[in-house]
Amino acid sequence: MNKTAQLPLRCWAEIDLAALERNIARIQQSLPANIRYVAVVKADAYGHGIHQSVARLMHSKTDFFAVANISEAAAIRELGPGWPILLLSPLLPDEDKYIIEYDLIPTISTENEVRRFDELGKTFGKKISVHMKIDTGMGRVGVWHSAAPALYASIRHSKNLFLDGIYTHFSSSDSDIGYTTKQRNLFFNLLETLQISSKDGLLIHADNSSGIESFKKNSPINAVRIGLLQYGVIPYKDSILSTVKTENVFSFHTRIGLIKKLPKKTSISYGRTCTLKRDSDIAILTAGYADGIPRSCGNRGSVLINGHRCPILGNITMDQTIVDITDLEQTSVGDQAILFGKQGGTEITIGEFSQWAGTIPWEILTSISKRVQRIYKTNLGT
Ligand SMILES: Cc1ncc(COP(=O)(O)O)c(C=O)c1O
Repeated sequence: MNKTAQLPLRCWAEIDLAALERNIARIQQSLPANIRYVAVVKADAYGHGIHQSVARLMHSKTDFFAVANISEAAAIRELGPGWPILLLSPLLPDEDKYIIEYDLIPTISTENEVRRFDELGKTFGKKISVHMKIDTGMGRVGVWHSAAPALYASIRHSKNLFLDGIYTHFSSSDSDIGYTTKQRNLFFNLLETLQISSKDGLLIHADNSSGIESFKKNSPINAVRIGLLQYGVIPYKDSILSTVKTENVFSFHTRIGLIKKLPKKTSISYGRTCTLKRDSDIAILTAGYADGIPRSCGNRGSVLINGHRCPILGNITMDQTIVDITDLEQTSVGDQAILFGKQGGTEITIGEFSQWAGTIPWEILTSISKRVQRIYKTNLGT
């Protein structure tokens, strides 16, 4: 056994897979019965661990998985055959053959991809299932909506391709309802032009965690692609699904490595961006930006120690973070500090932590570094 695995923890994440499973169940219960669930598990399942998360999701009646690349798809396949896996990002030509090896569904945005995947199917004597993506205003992957009818015809005429789904992606579903409505209408109009309905057996999807609106009013949509919300983080309080009671799956922990007293007017950390306003007790935490605490949290964020918020002093350093514990009564070296998560009756949310960092929860979760051990809680509570 690897001896380092037994060492005391200095900085770690606790991942509650039972909470993940409860979240999925609640999200699924809130969706109309015909809506299929595409679980977005790219970037190591948003930092939660792809193997552990996917194993739970398979248990939770997930219909489909979506990932960014071949290596993520291969990780899912290690857990078993059967589940359809959609590749959301474009493939490099030298990756095409892995579609066959791992039985994957690529996204098509261009005529070039139609030709490549058709040729691949021909070579292997197999029909390749594909999803066609429509760019309705994201400006990233997908065929521009006005060029979509021609691409659709090419896919339909390709002997070795099977159109399994069609989708679009909203650029601002967590901030701009007007723009999202415009994108949705473009998508719906296109489906009408192409005479595609949910009865054709195609998977038709658009909404992510914050944009769950499209399946209202006889809509053709029959699937959702959910990432962040399944991990208990609500990206947009006005989305329909924000009323679903989800729980945080991921919490971020470190410990106090050193406590000391410093006199008023001492400057703290690199760059001297903080000067003590009073004689202070400070604690040096055993985690820094190399663990995934963004430097931008310096002088802005707090951590929880013994149920109290303790402000971060000065710049975050690579391996250590300095906090003010002057107002705490009892603190000892070795005590736990919560970077985000609950302690006692208090909580620092990922949303709050992200705001201090000037970024979004997606980036925080996917930037917690490899040095941070993931501890899985497997107890299935209610
Ligand atoms: C194409 C696509 N669909 C769905 C999602 C999931 O989004 P969310 O995490 O907001 O649910 C993402 C996330 O980046 C994405 O890129």
